[in-house]
Amino acid sequence: MAQVVLENIYKSFSHRQSKRTAETSQPLIRSDIEAANSDSPSAVSVLRRINLTVQDGEFMVLVGPSGCGKSTLLRLIAGLETLTGGNIWVGDRLVNDLPPKQRDIAMVFQSYALYPHMTVYDNLAFGLRRTRKNPELATADQSKGPAGRRSAYQDAFDQVLVGLTRSFPAKLRYWTDQERWVDQRVRTVAQMLQIETLLNRLPKQLSGGQKQRVALGRAMARNPQVFLMDEPLSNLDAKLRTETRTQIVNLQRKLGTTTIYVTHDQVEAMTMGDRIAIMSAGQLQQVASPLELYNQPANRFVAEFIGSPPMNFLPVQVKAPLLIQHPQFRLTLPEVWGNVLQAYDGRSLTLGIRPEHLSVSLPAPKNLPVIVNRVEALGSDTYLTVSFAETTALSNSPALQVRIESDRSVSVGEKVWLAIAPEKIHFFDNTTGLAVRL
Ligand SMILES: Nc1ncnc2c1ncn2[C@@H]1O[C@H](COP(=O)(O)OP(=O)(O)OP(=O)(O)O)[C@@H](O)[C@H]1O
Ligand SMILES: [Mg+2]
Repeated sequence: MAQVVLENIYKSFSHRQSKRTAETSQPLIRSDIEAANSDSPSAVSVLRRINLTVQDGEFMVLVGPSGCGKSTLLRLIAGLETLTGGNIWVGDRLVNDLPPKQRDIAMVFQSYALYPHMTVYDNLAFGLRRTRKNPELATADQSKGPAGRRSAYQDAFDQVLVGLTRSFPAKLRYWTDQERWVDQRVRTVAQMLQIETLLNRLPKQLSGGQKQRVALGRAMARNPQVFLMDEPLSNLDAKLRTETRTQIVNLQRKLGTTTIYVTHDQVEAMTMGDRIAIMSAGQLQQVASPLELYNQPANRFVAEFIGSPPMNFLPVQVKAPLLIQHPQFRLTLPEVWGNVLQAYDGRSLTLGIRPEHLSVSLPAPKNLPVIVNRVEALGSDTYLTVSFAETTALSNSPALQVRIESDRSVSVGEKVWLAIAPEKIHFFDNTTGLAVRL
C-alpha cells in the first residue's frame, strides 16, 4: 500500500500528439512533449497545477463535469500518458518515467474489456501469470543458487504443460508453484466478489454486473499498491449500480488499497469517498470530505456541483452590518456575519441557498413571494420549481428549486411565501466566485 502524491501536474496535448495517441497508441517522444509545452497555438492545455495527496489506504473520488480532465489525470498516474510537467509519487518512488507495468497500479475502465475467449478464471489469472509477482517464489529461486535455478527451457516446458492441462479437473492439472499461487489468489478474489460459481463461464455468458465484478477482480487479484477506477459502474442499471457501489467500498475497506475513483455522478462521489476532489476545466476546485463540500463549498462551482437539485443563487445588496436586500425581500442575518459583511457594505453579493433550506411559510417582508410552476412528488419528498411572483429586471433570476415535506400539498399556479433558513445561507463574491467565509 502506498500514498499517491501529485505535484504540480500539467498536461497539454498538441494536435500532433493527439493524432499519434489516437491512431497508433505509440509512446510519445520528447518532441511531442516540447510541442505541448510550448506556446504553440496547437497545444491544448488539459490539466493545470494539480496538487493532490491521496493518503495510504484512502478512497479518493475524483469528480467533475465531462471533459474536465478526470480520465487524463488517471491515465497519467497509470503511465498511459506522458506528463507535460510535474511529478507523480507512488509511496516513495517517483514514477514519472516508469512504464505502466512497473508502477504497481491496476486500472479498471468503464468498458470492462474482458478477454472474450477466456473463462472468468483465466481472465482473473491472466495478469498474475504474466507478472510472476509471488515474492516467496522469487526468493526461493534466488536462494537455490545457479545449480538449483530452473532453466528457461524447463520454464517453457512447464508453461506448455500448465497451458495444456488448464481446462482439466484440478486433480489432473499440471501444477507449478507459480500456478498454485495464481489459483489461490484467483479463488480468494472470486470469493470476495461472490463470483466463485462463474469461474468456468465465458464473458458472453455473464450479466453486465457480473462482468463488472470480474473486471474489478482482475485488478484486485494483482494486489497492486493503487487502484485507479474510471467510471466503472456507468454501464450498470440503477439497482446494480447501488449494489456494486457498496461492494466496491466494502472491498476497498477490507483490502485497504489506496484508490482513486473517477465519476461524474455526485451521489456516487458523496457516498463512496473518504474525500472528494472536485475538478473543473483542468483544475482542482476543492478537496474535502463529502459533508465539508456540502456545508462549506469553497466556491460557486462546488456549491452548484454538489447537491441535487443544485443550490439556488440570488443577487443581493449588502447593507452593513446585517441587512441584505433583494427586490422581492429583505433579510436580517445572524450576527456571526457582521464582521465579514462590513467589507461588502453597499455592494452586491450572490446569496446561495439549497432547495432543502427553503420552506413554505407565511407572508412577511423577509420571505420570498413566489408562484409554483411545477410540482414533483417523489413520495419521500416533493420538489417545487418556483419563480418570483412579480418579476422586475433585477429579480428576473432563473427559477428556484425547493424541497418540501411530501405531506404538504401545493398546486401549480399557487402563490406561496418561502422562508430562508438564515443559518444555512452561503455568500459568493460576484467577481471571483469564491465563498465569503465566516
Ligand atoms: N489524446 C488527446 N488529444 C487531445 N485532446 C485530448 C486527448 N485526450 C483528451 N483530450 C481532451 O482533454 C480534455 C479532458 O479529457 P478527459 O477524457 O480527461 O475528460 P473527462 O473528465 O474524463 O471527461 P468524461 O467525464 O467525459 O469522461 C477533453 O477536452 C478532451 O477533449
Ligand atoms: Mg473520462
